Amino acid sequence: MKNFLVINGPNLNMLGVRETDTYGSISLDEIQNYTEKKISGLDVKLEWWQSNSETEIIERLHKLTNEKHDALIINPAAFSHTSIAILDALKILKIPVVEVHLTNTHSRESFRHSMLTAQAASIIMGGLGKEAYYFAVLSQLN
Ligand code: DQA
Repeated sequence: MKNFLVINGPNLNMLGVRETDTYGSISLDEIQNYTEKKISGLDVKLEWWQSNSETEIIERLHKLTNEKHDALIINPAAFSHTSIAILDALKILKIPVVEVHLTNTHSRESFRHSMLTAQAASIIMGGLGKEAYYFAVLSQLN
């Protein structure tokens, strides 16, 4: 059984309420339930964790270095575009990192085109909406 940590960054707890024209009306809990249903026949367990705090995300990444996860799936949200500190914390990890974004950030405002944290990712996915986490899981199963 593989064991993946899923980290969601700031404002993703407000999915379903925030900018529904951009992100749709589905909440993070609903995306989580949807993903869990889709992976139910697969040999993988997900731990879901969300924070709005850069510090907490960095500390969760540090803790991950002493844990037995096989991969990290992360949506750093806006911190993707700003946080060298999260990039540095991701670079400490020895497991594969998959960075996901619900939207295609390259088709949005120019400040979303720079993806700092993605430099530490082996895979980056954008624009898949609620399917993002499911495809990120599949990418790490072989
Ligand atoms: C996002 C894209 C980011 O630019 C934005 O700040 C988010 C969500 C996405 O999943 O599409 O909060 O990471």
